[in-house]
Amino acid sequence: MTSHSIERSGPIRTEREGDILVIVADSPPVNALGAAVRDGLEAAVKAGVADSSISAIVIRCDGRTFFAGADIGEFGKPLQGIPLPTLVDVIEASPTPVIAAIHGTALGGGCEVALGCHYRVAVPSAKLGTPEVKLGLLPGAGGTQRLPRLVGVKAALEMIVLGNPVSAQAAADMGLVDKVVGEDTLAADALAFAREVAGKRPIPRVRDRLVAPDPAAIEAFRKTHGRKLRGFDAPEACITCVVAATEQSFEDGLAVEREQFMALMNGTQSAAQRHLFFAERKAAKIDDIDAATPLRPIKRVGVIGAGTMGGGIAMNFLSAGVPVTIVEMQQEALDRGTGVMRRNYEASAAKGRLPADAPDKAMGLLSPTLSLDDLGDCDLIIEAVYEDMGVKKDIFTRLDAIAKPGAILASNTSYLNIDEIAAVTKRTGDVLGMHFFSPANVMKLLEVVRGRQTAPDVLATVMALAKKIRKVAVVAGVCDGFIGNRMLMPRQVEANKLLMEGATPEQIDRVHVAFGMPMGPFQMADLAGVDIGWHRDPGRIENIRDALAAEGRWGQKKGAGFYDYDEKRNPTPSPRVAEIIDDFRAKEGATPRAISDDEIVARTLYTMVNEGALILEEGMAQRASDIDVVWVYGYGWPVYRGGPMFWAQSEGAEKVIAGLERYGFPVAKGLKTGEAFK
Ligand code: 3HC
Repeated sequence: MTSHSIERSGPIRTEREGDILVIVADSPPVNALGAAVRDGLEAAVKAGVADSSISAIVIRCDGRTFFAGADIGEFGKPLQGIPLPTLVDVIEASPTPVIAAIHGTALGGGCEVALGCHYRVAVPSAKLGTPEVKLGLLPGAGGTQRLPRLVGVKAALEMIVLGNPVSAQAAADMGLVDKVVGEDTLAADALAFAREVAGKRPIPRVRDRLVAPDPAAIEAFRKTHGRKLRGFDAPEACITCVVAATEQSFEDGLAVEREQFMALMNGTQSAAQRHLFFAERKAAKIDDIDAATPLRPIKRVGVIGAGTMGGGIAMNFLSAGVPVTIVEMQQEALDRGTGVMRRNYEASAAKGRLPADAPDKAMGLLSPTLSLDDLGDCDLIIEAVYEDMGVKKDIFTRLDAIAKPGAILASNTSYLNIDEIAAVTKRTGDVLGMHFFSPANVMKLLEVVRGRQTAPDVLATVMALAKKIRKVAVVAGVCDGFIGNRMLMPRQVEANKLLMEGATPEQIDRVHVAFGMPMGPFQMADLAGVDIGWHRDPGRIENIRDALAAEGRWGQKKGAGFYDYDEKRNPTPSPRVAEIIDDFRAKEGATPRAISDDEIVARTLYTMVNEGALILEEGMAQRASDIDVVWVYGYGWPVYRGGPMFWAQSEGAEKVIAGLERYGFPVAKGLKTGEAFK
């Protein structure tokens, strides 16, 4: 292939291949459509159109991906250069056919640029999607109007409202991609395709297509997905735009899209979701460790404990293709644990979430054993037995003798002192905490607890490994409960006090659910087990929780806890619990009063924020956004509120401080100085 007259302008260059103009973008890391890219594309397309010797234009990208979207870093700043929707219009209006040649991920604005092109070819591994909804937005460069016109209402709703990308083949099946080309021959195949279509008239423009209204598809979509979209603004705005695409002219539909997009862009939800996008990526970075720190190879992982936690932890590695040795004390417990793991895999395969051979493949990587001595060849060993310092120290003492030199030793403790555990070994630098959240094979969060002496390469290795097993990892320091559980404590204490003062479990839970939490503190207690942490002495009743536990009201598993449950585990307020609470109040001489929802917010949510500020002050978290990541990925904090520290800042620090002061809490310094938000 001969290529000549290459011209470069910033991130865009053009190459002439006979009568085809190839426009190539090169803007690492992901070819986001920032101002320089947009301006360069506009100029290149216009130059191609102006040149009568050009019969077709190909747009492709260098590097790892086709345009991965608008440049999120530009949002909220004054617009520079040509607006993206205008650029897409310029491309679509071209009297010379334009072909998008796609590899990597054509996402958001990238997908919209492709929709403005007249044809789309893609390599098999490419993915196309409109994930804007995950940033609290909608495809705002004509995507809501073009996609339904091209692929129909049902497929467009799934792509736009759920934001999940589709494969090149799926895109071809729905008409979004015209041809799937060779994995390694995109440039040449796109040229050949361009030559094929160069002379075809009329040029297909998506805006000229019509799509019929489909109320049934919209109703079905709402029925299937309504629940998980509860509380979010963007999905509804997306649906409004898709409906407009079916009922209005292209231009009027675009106006609806623009209006909805701007409302979302200026709202608090999108600000929160964009904050989390960057927060999640920042969390992977460790301030005082060089990104070039060499990592230790992790070829085999050992897990001690095959209970719910240990089994879930092991599954993460098996799913990522890393062999695991799992240890239990008794054969029966080992068989039970591995049985549960297999059934979990099989259930996912049966639901189509995994390929049919995945369960055998994953379980084939598992070596169950009754002997700790079998962990000698593991590069990382994670202890996941019950929370007892004595037991943990005993295990780490034994591991110190068994593990090979350089092996990383981790505890899955959710609050115990990692330094104290490390101190029983002669390799304190190799020890750290890896706190998984239940169910460990599902929950995205991993708190990585950095001991006083944890070696930098040990920490860096575990952070990289976390990414490999698709966790979002956050570094925490050694303190009681680390980041997440430590912040849960003031919430729990205040929730219990509020009960004594006159609130009901239902009221407190309702406030939390209305806020957007998946459940309130008492619903959570019933799910986790009211008996957890109970002293198991029915005669000793020091608080309401003890009273419930003493009566066998251990939560959902017993059909009774803070709520009564039917066979389907539907909760109803419990008259018996109301009696228990009344008795307790009488015993303590407490006179119940009416408690406002605002008071519940201040005492159970502001206090968490206050604790977060203390965590930062003590250096137990690297940055405020790490705390947000912990709460969103580990505890179901509503994504659209951005995490507790982001939320407090958007509420206004003064308001939070005033709330804390009103109820007599000492206010953390960082809330006053602003340090708590950095
Ligand atoms: N804008 C700005 N920066 C972006 C970006 C974007 N759209 N997408 C990724 N980046 C940055 C990341 O912040 C990260 O920066 P860092 O190295 O400084 O931390 C770097 O690119 C690499 O990103 P990842 O670590 O996420 O790399 P991966 O390879 O894991 O994933 C990806 C690549 C799938 C493209 C992923 O980055 C992604 O999902 N990006 C966002 C895609 C998206 O949401 N696009 C829609 C944007 S909104 C839009 O287009 C509005 C329009 O409709 C008007």
